Amino acid sequence: MSKVLNIGSLNYDNVYQMDHMVKKGETASAGSMNVFLGGKGLNQSVAAARAGLHVFHAGAVGEDGAELCGCMESEKIDTHLVRRLSGRSGHTIIQVDKDGDNCIIVYPGTNGQITQKDIHEILEEFGEGDFVIIQNEVSNTAAIIEACSAKKMVILFNPSPYDGHIAACDLGKVGVLLINETEGRALTGEENPEAVVSALIEKYPKMAVVLTLGSEGVLYAEGVQRIRQQAVKVKAVDTTAAGDTFTGYFIAGLVRGEAMEKILKQCVCASALACTRAGAVPSIPYMEEVQEMEKRHNI
Ligand code: RIB
Repeated sequence: MSKVLNIGSLNYDNVYQMDHMVKKGETASAGSMNVFLGGKGLNQSVAAARAGLHVFHAGAVGEDGAELCGCMESEKIDTHLVRRLSGRSGHTIIQVDKDGDNCIIVYPGTNGQITQKDIHEILEEFGEGDFVIIQNEVSNTAAIIEACSAKKMVILFNPSPYDGHIAACDLGKVGVLLINETEGRALTGEENPEAVVSALIEKYPKMAVVLTLGSEGVLYAEGVQRIRQQAVKVKAVDTTAAGDTFTGYFIAGLVRGEAMEKILKQCVCASALACTRAGAVPSIPYMEEVQEMEKRHNI
């Protein structure tokens, strides 16, 4: 049985409910403020776990990291590869506006202290055919991809947040690339979803591409195959972690060997549900809720 590893960030999200996003030079009051657990890494591990997968999470927390580890333990995520370091864990400042959209400042904290030595120690327990999920919120992303590829692991890469480190990542070693429209545009210079996936497949023919399109659903591409799945329309309260929820459910379906059409349906329901709730981790639905939504919407 293949193992599933997530080498990813763990954050405390400081979330401010705003009427509108604060502009340069402006001071504005928040309607409310909450601290939620989050981080792209943690969100994706929790989503995969709530979709029924057993996940090993590797990463780092600081002296304030007890709640982050406690959350993973209560989700039955294996935490023995999470380093406990001195200093502060990662945290964010998130503005959420009245449409549920967000903008995020990330302070990496201990997420930025994953070393090459850590990577090699983490990977000692994994091998050929095991799955790994990687985002771009811990240090040494390019080296993580190299080391996982050397181990012949199946790499799912979510190049988020998109920044200068992505250029150093060898996408030719990635099995499945999970991107949103912004990341697709940055990687290819193309706007049109079909053009984005075709440009990527042309350059990396062995890679499958999952392009999420927000309220327009998702486009999946592998070789010449294209699958389009519409989104489920909901009233968004907070879109934070909707993409991470999609990724977690996607890997759960992939590891279970389900048909791609079925996986994508489950993923759009899961991410729609995440949009209807505040926060990152607290917004991630359980499989029963996702299945109930699939039935209700007859998809
Ligand atoms: O993708 C959402 C996540 O991005 C938040 O939980 C925040 O921690 C940032 O990492």
